[in-house]
Amino acid sequence: MRITAEAFSSAITAVVTNDALVKLGFAGRIKGRQTQSIRVDMRPVLVGGSRMVQSVRTIGGEHRTQMVPLEESAGFVVELLNEGYANITVTTTSELIEYRVAKGGDVFVNRTQRESDPDLAHDRSKKRMLDPADPLLVAVGISTESGEIKAKWRDKYRQVDDFLRIFSTTLTKAVKAGQVDTPSVQAPLQVVDLGCGHAYLTFGAQAWLERVCGWPSRIVGVDIKTASMARNQQLAERLGVTNMTFIASGIAEYKFDGEIDVVLALHACDTATDDALAWAMRHKAKVIMSVPCCQHNLQTQMDAENIPAPLGLITRHGILRERFADLLTDAARAAILRQHGYRVDVIEFVSGEHTPRNLMIRAVKTEAKVDESIDNDVELLRSEWKLSPALFRQLVEE
Ligand SMILES: C[S@@+](CC[C@H](N)C(=O)[O-])C[C@H]1O[C@@H](n2cnc3c(N)ncnc32)[C@H](O)[C@@H]1O
Repeated sequence: MRITAEAFSSAITAVVTNDALVKLGFAGRIKGRQTQSIRVDMRPVLVGGSRMVQSVRTIGGEHRTQMVPLEESAGFVVELLNEGYANITVTTTSELIEYRVAKGGDVFVNRTQRESDPDLAHDRSKKRMLDPADPLLVAVGISTESGEIKAKWRDKYRQVDDFLRIFSTTLTKAVKAGQVDTPSVQAPLQVVDLGCGHAYLTFGAQAWLERVCGWPSRIVGVDIKTASMARNQQLAERLGVTNMTFIASGIAEYKFDGEIDVVLALHACDTATDDALAWAMRHKAKVIMSVPCCQHNLQTQMDAENIPAPLGLITRHGILRERFADLLTDAARAAILRQHGYRVDVIEFVSGEHTPRNLMIRAVKTEAKVDESIDNDVELLRSEWKLSPALFRQLVEE
């Protein structure tokens, strides 16, 4: 059946807020049009008890998820229609409606009676590491008494949860590979969280180690903020957790005797990340998981005069120079870790919608031979580009 473009547009914009919607898909493209994504899939979800629409754009091999408030969803759909998708599929609780938009704008519709159930669970693809109703999350203030993540803590919850997922696989693999000794009562796993702040990650790591792995551990949270450390220690006591200690100290000044298995650092500000990495390397940490935060160190040193062509194409623009300096800072950190015998990878630990600072530097100490060519690259950075990464200065120039 053919319908007018107006009837089609109003049917699609209305369906997105309709309680009967199960899912909505946009795919293909009208001849001669260029769409932003290969396909877009939308479905209603409940987030903290409020109904929203989740949109997942498939671009190349990537999936980009966006949460759209219900009141903005009709406008969002109009923008998608304007991009020029040719095949729009609507699944409701009672029927499947398939629209095909032809080059001239004619719209053909096909309806099939078919029952479907909506799945309103947010993030159904991944089982969360920490249940929103976990009493721990209530105690640290991320969840309400009724077990829902508070709106302002949603991003922090996802950062911690996704960090813990990677922590669990990394540590389990390292223990299996013999890079970290299997923790025991006599030799508990020694973990330090540097720049721990209010210790959401520290408490999460403790819970995972104790409840899921049953691995004995000793965990220290370090932060320069005295009041936060006192608060965290009180919270640990209130929760009956006896294997956690919080120390008020600068990272570089923190003294620790003994072996370190794991160093964590989530969003330690600017060069505090370098302090954490240097501290971890000096203490021969076996596993290091660090998510850098804002960074200004290389950016302030970067002089366009010293940057060879054609990279001047990047450094002449403020925002590009800033991002380039960020990338170079993390690349230098990864290289310096490799120089010290770590196997390193740099990964996105959480989707960018939960923090723009979503790169994790993960390093595991191995027996692998150190790649000496890195020395030349780091040296070139210093001699030719006149850039001295904070981590390098700390480890070499001191
Ligand atoms: C953005 S917060 C992140 C806190 C926590 N890791 C999290 O993700 O929730 C950064 C923390 O690093 C701490 N910090 C910054 N520089 C530090 C330093 N040199 N030594 C110790 N702590 C530091 C700050 O006090 C702050 O609590």
